[in-house]
Amino acid sequence: MAIFNRNSVNDTAAASLPRHIAIIMDGNGRWAKKRGLPRKLGHSAGAETFRTISRYCDKLGVEQLTVYAFSTENWKRPADEVEGIMNLLRKYLKDSCAQLAAENVRLRFLGDLEVLPQDIRDLIAQNKVISDKCDGIIVNICVNYGGRLDIVHAARKLAEKVKNGELDPADITEDMFSENLWTKGLPDPDLLIRTGAESRISNFLLWQSAYSEFYFTDTLFPDFTPDKLDEAISWFSGRKRRFGGV
Ligand code: IPE
Ligand code: IPE
Ligand code: MG
Repeated sequence: MAIFNRNSVNDTAAASLPRHIAIIMDGNGRWAKKRGLPRKLGHSAGAETFRTISRYCDKLGVEQLTVYAFSTENWKRPADEVEGIMNLLRKYLKDSCAQLAAENVRLRFLGDLEVLPQDIRDLIAQNKVISDKCDGIIVNICVNYGGRLDIVHAARKLAEKVKNGELDPADITEDMFSENLWTKGLPDPDLLIRTGAESRISNFLLWQSAYSEFYFTDTLFPDFTPDKLDEAISWFSGRKRRFGGV
């Protein structure tokens, strides 16, 4: 483990470490089903795995970790499952209020947060105050996030500027578009991992993953250990990224 540490004296190992890792944390429900447990317990197990993986990424020296926790489509699920996921988010936010400063983690939430219950929005705001004082790993949790909605929101913001006469449509650039996404200021993900044996992107980071390396694994998210992350990083380090060049 930890052969990729950015602080390592080995420059090659440091260079092979992705700056930004994104994870579609899928497979919680199937993990629970396999054990005859309610899906809710799969989500609790997934939340524990998320804590372990975010600590491990910090230890490795990964600069940014972005995880998909709840999509704009996940509201279609039964109300008690949605409620269970919101409760886990509450618990995480309450616990992390105390832990974030100690662990020096900068926590960010990406997505359309306005429709979340008010108490969760308040906890997110409290966390922001604490985490703004930290300078360690940036952990972005995508909640009520959809890649298409992200793009639509950005388009609306730019359209508003055009309407007000502040912007000429011909001057809209890719960088300007990126700066109006929820991921404003983040580098694009280098490595995008999906656990849970599905080979699709399910509306995650559509714009931002244009040149990400995609790693699909059958491992269900609650079983995704630091060793499995090492395997993904090792696979990543063997990729030749050309970005359209030769
Ligand atoms: C991912 O696990 C977590 C969320 C989408 C909230 P799932 O709940 O989708 O688990 P599976 O895919 O049904 O196993
Ligand atoms: C993607 O998983 C969303 C999250 C992990 C939060 P889903 O389980 O919702 O995706 P689909 O429905 O299998 O595409
Ligand atoms: Mg799923």
